[in-house]
Amino acid sequence: MRVVQFTGPAADASNTEIVERADPTPGEGEVLIDVTHAGINFKDILMRRGDRAYVPQWPIVPGIEVVGTVTALGAGTAAELQGQRVAGFLACGGLAEKVCVPADLVTGVPESVDSAVAAAVPTAWATAELLLRHLPSGLAGPDAPSRVLVHSAAGGVGQALAALAPLHGVDELVGVVGSASRVDTAAAWGYPTVLVRDDGWQRKLTGPFDLVLDPLGSKELGADLELAAGGGTVLLFGNAGGAAPAPLPDPAGLMSSNVSIGGFSIATTSTQQPRLVADAMDTVFRAVAAGRVRPEVVLRNGIDQVPATHDALAGGTAPGKYVVAFG
Ligand SMILES: NC(=O)c1ccc[n+]([C@@H]2O[C@H](COP(=O)([O-])OP(=O)(O)OC[C@H]3O[C@@H](n4cnc5c(N)ncnc54)[C@H](OP(=O)(O)O)[C@@H]3O)[C@@H](O)[C@H]2O)c1
Repeated sequence: MRVVQFTGPAADASNTEIVERADPTPGEGEVLIDVTHAGINFKDILMRRGDRAYVPQWPIVPGIEVVGTVTALGAGTAAELQGQRVAGFLACGGLAEKVCVPADLVTGVPESVDSAVAAAVPTAWATAELLLRHLPSGLAGPDAPSRVLVHSAAGGVGQALAALAPLHGVDELVGVVGSASRVDTAAAWGYPTVLVRDDGWQRKLTGPFDLVLDPLGSKELGADLELAAGGGTVLLFGNAGGAAPAPLPDPAGLMSSNVSIGGFSIATTSTQQPRLVADAMDTVFRAVAAGRVRPEVVLRNGIDQVPATHDALAGGTAPGKYVVAFG
C-alpha cells in the first residue's frame, strides 16, 4: 500500500514523500479499512512543521480521518463490521491506502451520504459537534439565548460550527477571521456577522458571549476574556500559529468575572472517551442524512495530491475542507 510520510520537520512539502509500506494487520479491538477518501486537517500541518506535541518520531504518517470499507477484523470486534462502509478517527497514520482503526472510533456511513462528504465528519465536524456541547446553560438557565464567538470561522471547523450551531440552539453567532479575504467565505458558511481580526477587533463587538471557541493558541485570550459572559467559557482548541503559549491570566480576575477557560482535544477525547467521538460522528451523520446540514468539501483526486493540498492549508487560505480521494 502507499502512504504519505513526513521524514523531518519542514515548512513546505520538501520532507513529504509517498512510499510503499507493508499492509497493516488489525490488532485486538481494531478493524482494517481500505481507504477510499481521507480528510486533510490542520493537524497534518502541525506534524509537518514538527510541533513537538504531535510528532513522537520521524518518519511519521499524518492523517486523522478516513472513509472506506472494513476488510479485516481484529480480535474482539463485531462481525457485522466486515464489509461495511465506515468513517473512522485515528490519532495519526490516516493518509494511507489501508489503515487500522480502533473499532470504538468507527461508525457506519448512512447510504445517502457520499464518501467524500463523509470524510469531513470524523475530525472537523465531530470536533465542532463536541465543542458546541460545551455551551454553558447552568448560570443563565436553559432557555437563555446562547451567543457563540468563533475564531478562524472560514476554515473547516469554522464551517462545521456555523452549520451545527442552530442545532444546538445558538441564537447569535459571530465569526472572526484573520484577513479581509476570508470574510466572504465565513459569511457563505452561515455566519451572520464576520469580523476581521485587526487591532482592537474585540471593541467592535458588544458581546457578551456564552462560548468563545479559539484555535489560535493564547494570543487572543485577553480579548476573548473581555467578551465572555459571566458564566461563560473560553475554550482553547488549537495553536495554528505555533507560538509558545502565554502565561494564564490572573485567577482572581477569572473568579470575579465568573468566566472559565477550558481546553479541548478530539485526539485526547478519542483515547479517554472513544464512544463520545463515535457518538459525535453519528450525530453529524444523522443530521447530514436528514438534510439538516450539508458539509461542503474541496475534493482532490489521488494520494499524490496530498503534498500540494498540505501547502494550501499551511498558507491559511484554504477555500474549505479538503478531502482526497484515493484512486
Ligand atoms: N483541538 C481539537 O480537537 C481540534 C480538532 C480539529 C481542528 N483543530 C484546530 O482547529 C483549527 C482549524 O482546523 P481546520 O483543520 O479546520 O483547519 P483550517 O481552519 O482550514 O485552517 C486553520 C486556520 O487557522 C488560521 N490560522 C491562524 N494562524 C495561522 C497560521 N500561522 N498558518 C495557517 N493558518 C493560520 C486561519 O484562519 P484565520 O486566519 O481566519 O484565523 C486558517 O483558516 C486549527 O488550528 C486546528 O489545529 C483542533
